[in-house]
Amino acid sequence: MSSTTTISLNDSNAIPQLGLGVWKADGGQEVEQAVLHALSAGYRLIDTAMVYQNEDGVGRAIAQSGIDRQELFITTKLWNSDQGADKVRPALLASLERLKLDYVDLYLIHWPMPARGLYVETWKELIKLQSEGLIKTIGVSNFNIEHLEELKKHTSVLPAVNQVELHPYFQQRELREYCHANSIRVESWSPIGGSTGDLLNNDTLQELAAKYGKSPAQVVIRWHLQHGLIVIPKSTNQSRIQENIDVFDFELSSEHMVLIDSLETGKRFGPDPASMNIH
Ligand SMILES: NC(=O)c1ccc[n+]([C@@H]2O[C@H](COP(=O)([O-])OP(=O)(O)OC[C@H]3O[C@@H](n4cnc5c(N)ncnc54)[C@H](OP(=O)(O)O)[C@@H]3O)[C@@H](O)[C@H]2O)c1
Repeated sequence: MSSTTTISLNDSNAIPQLGLGVWKADGGQEVEQAVLHALSAGYRLIDTAMVYQNEDGVGRAIAQSGIDRQELFITTKLWNSDQGADKVRPALLASLERLKLDYVDLYLIHWPMPARGLYVETWKELIKLQSEGLIKTIGVSNFNIEHLEELKKHTSVLPAVNQVELHPYFQQRELREYCHANSIRVESWSPIGGSTGDLLNNDTLQELAAKYGKSPAQVVIRWHLQHGLIVIPKSTNQSRIQENIDVFDFELSSEHMVLIDSLETGKRFGPDPASMNIH
């Protein structure tokens, strides 16, 4: 069994640096088996969301695993339609019920949805729920610098984590620098290019993989880890789940890190948070 490194957060909790993402895993057997495979391979961080409709299955796998609750790090997210002062608590309680947990380790506002103007009051609710012990760590997802600046202006608590689209084709350098300066950890979604992109077929990544005797996915996951990012590759396939955690026995040279840094395209695969307002 492999184990992952952990990194400290601004609220003095710690998060495993590598976890399993479960977006698009169906909420029945598929997600349950994937989480069980991941836990037995040594993963301790599982990243789900209300909108993935698989929190129930994640909860069943956690219960079956027999692993101590304190050893696990479970993330879920508040969906866009649940933003607003009076909606957050019921949404969190419903997620906890589906997960069969008393608390989540990390709760994220899924998207800022700036056009609705509700994310600051939503953030204030997360702060309250954290003080009640229903959430250990509070964070956000898909927040640009301007959205983080608004939280800073109106509250005294900055997110511990900002989960954003981040991979070698879209590296978010300015946002990463801002987060670093404000003690916010960055977590990479679609870290290996997502299910529709063709990142792993990139020639440079294929050549590096051959050089290190690793797969392109392992090289990319290693690039995230060496940049100090939290990384949550999704897979429902047992051998790829194992492959994605077998990344602690090699190190990319600084020259090869720079080579991967040079793959930036400036183009997202996913929506732009500044204009994403679907709820
Ligand atoms: N906050 C947000 O708005 C947001 C948005 C998107 C994603 N996320 C989170 O981030 C997680 C990861 O992002 P993602 O699911 O978009 O993309 P990803 O993890 O970059 O890529 C997943 C795709 O890669 C395949 N794959 C996994 N391991 C592989 C390997 N070793 N070699 C080749 N292919 C491999 C998977 O297929 P198989 O399953 O068949 O292996 C799947 O098609 C999500 O699951 C979710 O938890 C959050």
